Amino acid sequence: MAQLTTQTLTESEIPALEAELSRQTPQKILERALSLFDNIAISFSGAEDVVLIDMAYRLNRQIQVFSLDTGRLHPETYQFIEQVRKHYGIAIEIMYPDATQVETLVQTKGLFSFYEDGHQECCGIRKVAPLRRKLSTLDAWITGQRQDQSPTTRGNVPVVQLDHAFSIEGKPLVKFNPLSHWTSADVWMYIRSYEIPYNPLHERGFVSIGCEPCTRPVLPNQHEREGRWWWEDAGKKECGLHAVNQSSTLVADTDK
Ligand code: ADX
Ligand code: SF4
Repeated sequence: MAQLTTQTLTESEIPALEAELSRQTPQKILERALSLFDNIAISFSGAEDVVLIDMAYRLNRQIQVFSLDTGRLHPETYQFIEQVRKHYGIAIEIMYPDATQVETLVQTKGLFSFYEDGHQECCGIRKVAPLRRKLSTLDAWITGQRQDQSPTTRGNVPVVQLDHAFSIEGKPLVKFNPLSHWTSADVWMYIRSYEIPYNPLHERGFVSIGCEPCTRPVLPNQHEREGRWWWEDAGKKECGLHAVNQSSTLVADTDK
């Protein structure tokens, strides 16, 4: 596929690109994504995302990085974000939720409404709306999703897709998941080999880390996702950032 002049992909171009990229390493996938799009950013929160930042850094590529600060992250996570910023000497754009929406939620339902009526409303205000605001400025985004993070909701996550959940009418948003085929072991092998920063909570049994009230450590051999929103069904453990996983038609699986 030639270098694109317009910074988007059409639905019909996705299957060929997926077939090409799904056989390649995350580094090659990232390189391709960065060659196709200038206005592209890594969505950063956890271990996987630092791997992507590190890979981009080794490619000598300047890349936008943003993170969603829900206001409910662990103190260790804030320190970790700062550590990554300094380690790579990069700007990390921190996105905040709308103060009025947070105030209204907390005043009407308290600080822990998600334990009673589910996490969707709070995540909608604290994560999804700020993400939508950021994505409206981009042509493409890059996430650290892996298929084995959740057999229920991420088992088919492709390397590249159109993100219908956040596309603005007339301008498709492209989403890359370069670590889609990597396992947690692959991610941690990379982290240890290159000695890159990680959240110190991982040393205390946390695997998948989100907001403090909605994340807990897991026991040996417990699935990582069991540490997130543990009071809800496995099929509901998506906060809306990756709504396309549950809504889109997945690309043709021709070469796997
Ligand atoms: S979540 O939807 O359940 O919270 P998860 O923690 O598995 O997501 O992370 C998957 C990917 O979503 C990350 O690799 C990252 O790209 C993106 N992501 C998750 N949380 C955030 C956040 N707070 N800020 C920016 N990106 C995030
Ligand atoms: Fe709110 Fe929990 Fe979602 Fe964080 S993960 S935005 S605290 S419901």
